[in-house]
Amino acid sequence: MTTAAQVLQGLFSAEGLEDPYRYYTELRRHGPVSLIGGTSPYAAVVTGYDAVNQVLRDPRIRVTDDAFSDSHGGSAWRGHPVLAALNNSMMYSNGDQHTRARKLFQQVFTPRRVQELEPAMTGQIEALMDGLAARLATDGEVDFMAEFAYLLPSSVVAALLGIPAEDLEWFRPRVQRINEFLDVTGKTAEVLARAGEATVELSEYYHRLIAVRRAEPADDLISRLVAADHEVSDEELVCNLLVLFNASFVTTIHLLGNGMSLLLDRPELRSCPAEPFVEEVLRYEAPVQFVARYADDVIEVAGVTVPPKEVLLIVLGAANRDPASFADPERFDPCRFAPDSRTCTAERRAASVGARPLSFGAGPHYCLGASLARAEARLAFPLLLQRFPGLRKARPAVRYPQQFLRGYESMPVEV
Ligand code: HEM
Repeated sequence: MTTAAQVLQGLFSAEGLEDPYRYYTELRRHGPVSLIGGTSPYAAVVTGYDAVNQVLRDPRIRVTDDAFSDSHGGSAWRGHPVLAALNNSMMYSNGDQHTRARKLFQQVFTPRRVQELEPAMTGQIEALMDGLAARLATDGEVDFMAEFAYLLPSSVVAALLGIPAEDLEWFRPRVQRINEFLDVTGKTAEVLARAGEATVELSEYYHRLIAVRRAEPADDLISRLVAADHEVSDEELVCNLLVLFNASFVTTIHLLGNGMSLLLDRPELRSCPAEPFVEEVLRYEAPVQFVARYADDVIEVAGVTVPPKEVLLIVLGAANRDPASFADPERFDPCRFAPDSRTCTAERRAASVGARPLSFGAGPHYCLGASLARAEARLAFPLLLQRFPGLRKARPAVRYPQQFLRGYESMPVEV
């Protein structure tokens, strides 16, 4: 049998990018947690549903923060703008710093706020569909990723935060440059420099916007954040805004792309109710495939002793396909999340075990924007299918080259 380290090597190859799931199955054969070590940057990889769920909720297990960077020779990087900004945000901090920022954002970014945004989201979807229709009429085909999936999430988060729509063209490529830095395999000096420059420019932008909203509040999240009673510094606020925009933009693109790809390949799915369909897309093709964690002390996970201060690779995409938690996990079946739906047969109803996908994580760092992402997709798919009933792929879609995000770079479609 190949070792877990060899399977992991395969996962980070071109074959693994195309189909990571067969590597996940092989990794699970080694158990829910596999020790890697050696020259790998990962001490262990966690692929079982229960183990992933447990690790994400365990208070001893932390996101990779400043203390972690320092213990890995990262102090030399400490001054680098991109790392400094990320580590100053809730996503890469633990304990009090995390709680302080998280509480503030939760206080102003409520389910009600998401609901209030729905009419604006519908308007944005309709405007983008007008663009698709115009391109289809003139060119005969259009790239769904570039002309829809790439544009909607950033328009929505901009509306939420109060970033003027006309600034988005300037914004998007800068956010992408920070995202390139986050890729597990892509940290070249050039990528780092580009990400650093983008971080400085975006931070200056947010500082300016905060000053404007403080002087003249508007009906948006930034105005509410600055008006709320809190002890979060402007610097921290900016770092969290940076991460929030980034986390919202680069992920939801792939929820939209992955769902659309399934709808185009399998027209019978078009009659599925939107909510369970979106949930099953999240399970089956999780836009975020991995997150990282570490512990200060030796810990035991699912009977495996994991060394301290080393990275654990937590594979959300593997947990979502664990046969112990999802019956027939390699089958795409929205029914597992809609056992009452008229479209579900008794047999398929019986196949639903009841676990929820871990695509938005779990525990203290559970995705802050899960309900917003779900709402965008739930609104977009039915409207797209209604407007373009004859939509089909013009050519095969091209995979997005980053492994920690699963999705497509381009998806040419025609009617
Ligand atoms: C399909 C779309 C999305 C996916 C798959 C996704 C996935 C995730 C995951 C897996 C985490 C946990 C990271 C970890 O545990 O280390 C996370 C955290 C986070 N997400 Fe999302 N996300 C999505 C959309 C959004 C949106 C729309 C927003 C904001 C409007 C957002 C904001 C955040 C923030 C701020 C965090 C950090 C929370 C914390 O550290 O306490 N995400 N997301």
